Amino acid sequence: MKKPVLRSPLFDGEKISLPAEVSELSKTFNGTICSPKGDEYTIKNNIIDLISEEKHYTLAQSTNHWNVTASVYEDLWRVRSLSLLTGEPFPIEKEKELLNKWVHPKPNGVYLDVGCSTALYARSLKKAEPESIQIAIDFSLAMLDEARLKAEADQTDMFLIRADAREMPFFGNTFDGIVMGGTLNELSDELKVLYECHRVLKKTGMFFVMHLIQAGSWYGKVLQNSASWSGIQFWSVEESNEMFQRAGFRVEEQFTKGIVCFTKLVPA
Ligand SMILES: C[S@@+](CC[C@H](N)C(=O)[O-])C[C@H]1O[C@@H](n2cnc3c(N)ncnc32)[C@H](O)[C@@H]1O
Repeated sequence: MKKPVLRSPLFDGEKISLPAEVSELSKTFNGTICSPKGDEYTIKNNIIDLISEEKHYTLAQSTNHWNVTASVYEDLWRVRSLSLLTGEPFPIEKEKELLNKWVHPKPNGVYLDVGCSTALYARSLKKAEPESIQIAIDFSLAMLDEARLKAEADQTDMFLIRADAREMPFFGNTFDGIVMGGTLNELSDELKVLYECHRVLKKTGMFFVMHLIQAGSWYGKVLQNSASWSGIQFWSVEESNEMFQRAGFRVEEQFTKGIVCFTKLVPA
């Protein structure tokens, strides 16, 4: 398997090699990695921790750091979320089918799940193409712990990295595909994250985004306005596309169902 290389979060241009065994989740890996400059990062239970200092989180982001949220997130909420948000039966299998169809992972291709939570998307891509290399990042350790358990149970090996999507620990032109499910609405600096996605994506790569758009009904608007104090943002489809364009992307495919928007982006 190709060994992914990280970019040191502290020393620009310095490389950190990742041992391939870190992604083998059935074998516990504890240790450290460092760049030639000596900045060192721990790996505990296969999770690579690149965040040394605590960040400021919005309320919505903070809840993702609680073990209780992480433990119920996928099984209680995520598998039902699209049916509730689209207003029609939308089983998780249908979402995964669309993801795998649009991303179409290839053997030895390298893919990034941004704000992965329990790494539902990375697991689905790994199942679709077992020879692909999946990297999943989130700044919540609780979510990454849960992602590890689920990926180990599914036998979908991957690299799990605690990192901030605003400053991605990757070199430019690294990924064949990037996926981001529901995370855009929760980001604090959404444009910065989109610019980072553009930087680390190969020119031939694609970017799958599922996000929530502004509701049309008055009660939907009231609900979304009340969620905004917790740090969750909603845009119209036009505003979202303007943002994608500003970050250097072109919309290749897109459709909405209820307030859920699926977009396939490519570098413009
Ligand atoms: C709505 S959840 C994502 C769900 C997941 N992608 C899925 O499809 O089930 C948003 C996740 O993004 C993470 N997150 C938010 N801002 C982030 C940032 N700047 N860097 C890394 N992770 C971030 C949160 O910790 C949370 O786990």
